[in-house]
Amino acid sequence: MYNNYFPVTYYFYPLLDLGFDVCAESQNFLQALDTPTPGNVETLLYVHIPYCQDLCRFCPFHVRVDKDFSVYERYTNALCTDLKQTAESTRGASSTIQAVYFGGGSPSVLSAEQLRRIFETIYASFTLAPDVEISFEGEPKSLGDPARLELLREMRVSRLSFGLQTYNQNLREAFNISATLDDVENVTRRARDIGFDEINVDMMYNLPGQTLADLDRDIEHLLADGYDSIDYYNLHYFAFPPKFKREMATGKIPAKPSEPVMLALFEQLRAGLSAAGYVNVADQVYSRKPAVCEYFRLLWAGGYGEHRAETLAVGSSARGYIDGVAYMKYGNVNRYMDGIEKGENTVEKISRRLSRPENRGAVMFPKFLSIKKQHDAALQTIPKSLLAQWTEHGYVYETATEYRISERGKLWTNNMTTDLFEAVQREIGDRAVIALSEKAGTRTGTF
Ligand SMILES: C[S@@+](CC[C@H](N)C(=O)[O-])C[C@H]1O[C@@H](n2cnc3c(N)ncnc32)[C@H](O)[C@@H]1O
Ligand code: SF4
Repeated sequence: MYNNYFPVTYYFYPLLDLGFDVCAESQNFLQALDTPTPGNVETLLYVHIPYCQDLCRFCPFHVRVDKDFSVYERYTNALCTDLKQTAESTRGASSTIQAVYFGGGSPSVLSAEQLRRIFETIYASFTLAPDVEISFEGEPKSLGDPARLELLREMRVSRLSFGLQTYNQNLREAFNISATLDDVENVTRRARDIGFDEINVDMMYNLPGQTLADLDRDIEHLLADGYDSIDYYNLHYFAFPPKFKREMATGKIPAKPSEPVMLALFEQLRAGLSAAGYVNVADQVYSRKPAVCEYFRLLWAGGYGEHRAETLAVGSSARGYIDGVAYMKYGNVNRYMDGIEKGENTVEKISRRLSRPENRGAVMFPKFLSIKKQHDAALQTIPKSLLAQWTEHGYVYETATEYRISERGKLWTNNMTTDLFEAVQREIGDRAVIALSEKAGTRTGTF
């Protein structure tokens, strides 16, 4: 049924499409902020810190490298103001936060003192669930600093995550990854010594020139290091700058693997991680525990066909979702800080509302690799003929309580996701993919 791999992995739905200033959805959004959170809604607080020490060449996110570190102080102040304002909105004040996620960029570039102020603002302003999951993402060099790790432990961070990407030294250099493998070893050892018992790493496959033997070497190292969970991403090539692409074309940097090799790499990594006891708990996520972390569960609508979970977004380029619309705050950091200091609303983009909100639960089905039959409203948004085709091609199978994506289906989750989109969303997505393929080095700030 599917012959060509759809090149984009979506993490948010509905898709951003409209400028906040000029669209009717803005009014609905502002009204929702003034309305208490309904009792059946679970809430994630997402805090974005867009700075990095250096720019990895593959990275599509809204990232800034600022050698003048005084800007971190200004950003910390803006973020604390944003946190307080979000918490004081009727929506924020009536939410119990189930999970907090610090994402970026690399939040660990802020100093321990700046991070302390941010955490203290969160604790003072929001109601957190007693078993709240607090995840903190960093890059290995700055995250390995003992003062920062001690602070994160004191602030009850329950889950640390950092980008490892690959153990291949040549590729690390070609990618301009500033953290060394020694930094990776340091942060892992220190975090364990300090008592963090959940460490997640980000890895990538489908790397330039990668063979099955290369992948085996990465997996062997990874298993020896024994992380608690692994996000293993298929490398997207959109963000590579034109020079990197030219070097791939001339052979200075090895070429992107062919599609059959990429699919074989993916099968091999799933088999390798599964044999080592990791459960494939969600698309691209492998964990020693049999459940996906709360961060992903809530970011992706609540899970397994649920569509109600909301995300309150704080920080430049942070993405959120409330009352049926997805939104993004100002992507330009200076504009964001100016806006916060002037007391402006700093939402830049917003999505159209779905005609059936339950469709969000269906679109996230391939992420969770399963949809429960009890979420019938979500299931009803999947065309019967599509489900029948997927079953016929062995991508999906049925149990008494759910539909599940098969091992074969896992190769095609990107394609399946877009096939679940409502028609208007599909058009928005198609336009974005064309724009991405036409312009090398496009920074999407994720999808
Ligand atoms: C926001 S980064 C967070 C980690 C941290 N900044 C670091 O790099 O150590 C999230 C992850 O997205 C993944 N990622 C970045 N660029 C990607 C790309 N072009 N294709 C696929 N995954 C990518 C990387 O694995 C990266 O660690
Ligand atoms: S991958 Fe991580 S460290 Fe590298 S530029 Fe992107 S956010 Fe920064």
